[in-house]
Parts: sequence; structure tokens; C-alpha cells
Amino acid sequence: MAPESHEPIDLDAEHLADSAFWSASAEHRELVFAELRRHDPVRWYPPRQSGFSRACTEFWALTRYDDIWHASRNPAGFCSSVTIDIEVMPDELGEFYPSMINLDAPEHSRLRRLVASGFTPKEIAAQDPHLRQIAAEIIDDVLDRFGDGSEFDLVSEVAARLPLRAICGMLGVPESDHGLMLEWTNLAVSPDDATVGVEGAARGLRQIADYALDLGRQRLARPADDVTTVLMHAEVDGERLTTKDYANFFILLISAGNETTRNAITHGLRLLTTHPDQRQIWFDDFERHAATAVEEIVRCEPLISNMCRVLTQDVELHGVTLHAGEKVALWYPSANRDETVFSDPGRFDVRRPVHPQQVGYGAGGPHFCLGANLARREMVVMFDEIRRRTPNLAITGEPDRVLSMALNSVRRVSASVAP
Ligand code: HEM
Repeated sequence: MAPESHEPIDLDAEHLADSAFWSASAEHRELVFAELRRHDPVRWYPPRQSGFSRACTEFWALTRYDDIWHASRNPAGFCSSVTIDIEVMPDELGEFYPSMINLDAPEHSRLRRLVASGFTPKEIAAQDPHLRQIAAEIIDDVLDRFGDGSEFDLVSEVAARLPLRAICGMLGVPESDHGLMLEWTNLAVSPDDATVGVEGAARGLRQIADYALDLGRQRLARPADDVTTVLMHAEVDGERLTTKDYANFFILLISAGNETTRNAITHGLRLLTTHPDQRQIWFDDFERHAATAVEEIVRCEPLISNMCRVLTQDVELHGVTLHAGEKVALWYPSANRDETVFSDPGRFDVRRPVHPQQVGYGAGGPHFCLGANLARREMVVMFDEIRRRTPNLAITGEPDRVLSMALNSVRRVSASVAP
């Protein structure tokens, strides 16, 4: 069933790329998406300048699961190389972005092949002891410092730490520099946050790029067993990556690895706090429900709100003609609540079957999240450690959310291990 509307929704008064829409309640956004799915599944939005630092361009909004699935799996018609962003990309940010996520075949496939073997389920499974050790250290630390029940910030003390150490480890960033990476990626992905702005994001991106180039030079001279070494020594069509291609690849991996799973862990604990029955079901038979539970967390709280594609040819969708060159935004939070696909989509259910597949990692196709296996494993390991050592760990305050139409991020939220 679609959510019952308790407030009348006037689609003409809503703009999906307006800061007002993202400042409103999650319930309001769900009602708007439900109305779009029902009555206007292919809707045109004009350009908009709102409270976000950057203006957005015009776009078509796709909100139904099947349409997002179709667009994601037809890269010849819905391409990524023109842009994947709703917002206008200023030059000072744009220079750091071209990487595989906004390329099409064959360049995309060549770049993805360079690193894909490091992200297979088998490779990620091999990291388990390492991930478990990190999770254990995080919980040791929480118990040492906050075991008396005092409140702490879940994001910085728990959720950010495992993804950060995992991706930094894969890239060969030494532990002494992890804090810098966290600081810089936070800046890099927050150009729309008034406290950061385009200037702050550009500064973060530049710092990561400079760092990557320095680390890359070291790996060229002395190879190590890490992804940076793979990228520095790789040849694509007989040629090494240019320094720019390499730096942008590094930026993509470090930011995607850091900024998403942290929020998945944060939202996951929030959902378990507000749904104690689901916590009990999962924690009573952890391994049995682990795969469905971590998928359900991402279904309920997709960490990336949208990705865009640009049409390479005219397309007819639900009686509407979309023209070549126009931009289409794929709204994952809406697809994940599509009542024609998921039964009772508003319900958090750790036993919900993984098919039909939720689209928080993308809806398939060539750009499907490279790090999905890693993210899933990080979540399982972190929640397993929580279950064993701090089963009552709970959120105690309202999350301080980052205002963004791209990322579903929490800046900080208080928690405690009180019995
Ligand atoms: C819960 C955590 C995560 C979520 C929800 C998530 C979500 C996504 C989404 C929605 C996409 C775009 C899919 C598309 O356009 O079709 C994507 C792409 C990508 N993700 Fe993730 N991601 C997560 C974690 C990670 C991690 C840990 C990494 C590690 C490096 C990662 C690396 C990437 C990369 C490299 C791409 C671009 C792939 C390509 O263009 O071929 N992600 N992710």
C-alpha cells in the first residue's frame, strides 16, 4: 500500500532539488514520492536555485522502481559521461570528478576492471579477520570510555571508524593519516552544506589529490600490496593512468568508501533503536538474518538519494517523450518504497527477502556499487560486535542531519550503552 496521505500533496508546490524539500520531514518526502509514483512518474523539473550552495539544472524525475531499474541497465540510452549530478558542477570541483562513475564504456569498463578483483565477495571475505579486529577495538574503546552509560557521538566514535580504516587500509594510507582522510572526505562531499560550501569542498578535494599523488609516487618507487600500487602500475591500453586519472580514481574510492557505510551503520543503529522487536529478532539469530538485515537498512535509508543519467536518444516513458540530451534523475529512496514491488514498504523488517533487490546500491547495470560487498560485510561485522559486547547500545538523541539532496548523512547523533 502507498502511504496514506495525511496532508494533501500539491506536486506543483514541491521541487525535488529545493533545499526546502530536503529540510522537510522524511515523512513529507515519502508522501511526495508516493504521489509522484502514483500520478506523475516522469515529471519535469525546471532549474532551481535554493538554499543549497549550488543551483540545480532542469531534469526529469523517475520515481518508480521499474523505470529506475530500466535506466540503470540501459547505459547506451542513459549515459553517465555527460553528468551524474543534478547540481551545476563548478570548475573548481569538476576537475576532480571525472572518474569511472561518470564515464561510459569502454573507458568505464577498463577502469573498473583495474580494481574490481579487489572487491569480489571472496576478496572481501578474506578481510574478515581484519574487519573483526577493527570492530573489536572500536567497541573496546567505547566500553573503556563510555561503559558507565555516559552519552557519546555514535558517528565519530563508532560508525565512521570501521569504514575509514577499511578503505584506508585497502588504499595503503597509513593509520597516522586516517584522521586527515576523514576530515578531507567530509569536506569533499559537502559542497551543498552551508558550513562547507564549494570552496571548502574544493579544498578537501585538492588535499586528497595532493596526498594521493604523493602516496602514488612512493608506491611507484616501492610497490606494496594495496590498491594504490595497482593503480600506479596499471596500464590501460598499454598506457599508465595519467596523474589526474589516478588522483580522481583515488578520490572516488576514498570518498565512496568513507561517506556511505558510516551512515549505513548510523541509520542501522537508529532503526534498531526505534524497532526493538527487529533488534531482538536479528540479535537472537544473528547469522541467519544478517544478509537480509543489512540490505533492509539500506532499503529503508538509501545513503545516496539520486544519480543522474543523460539521454542519448529520445525515449517514450508512460506516454511522455523525453529527448536526447535531457537529464534524468533516478530517485532511489522512492524506488525502495515502491508499493508495487515491496510489500508494506514503510515497515522495517530485518527478515525481508533480498529479492526483489533494493536499489540503495544502484539498480544494477555497469555502475552498480563497486563497494557493495565491502559495505555489507562492514555492517555485518560491526553489528555482530555490537550484539556480542554492547547489545543495548542505542541512539539517545535526534540525529543532526547534513542538509543535502545527494547524501543521506548524519553529522552526529548521541548514543549510550546504558543497560
Ligand atoms: C552502504 C554503503 C554504500 C552505498 C549505499 C553505496 C551506494 C552506491 C550507489 C547508489 C552507487 C551508484 C550506482 C549507479 O549509478 O548505478 C555507487 C557507486 C559506487 N560505489 Fe558505492 N555505496 C556504498 C559503499 C561503497 C563502498 C564501501 C565503496 C568502496 C570503495 C564504494 C564504491 C563505489 C564506487 C567506486 C562506485 C562507482 C562504480 C562505477 O561507476 O562503476 N561504495 N555506490
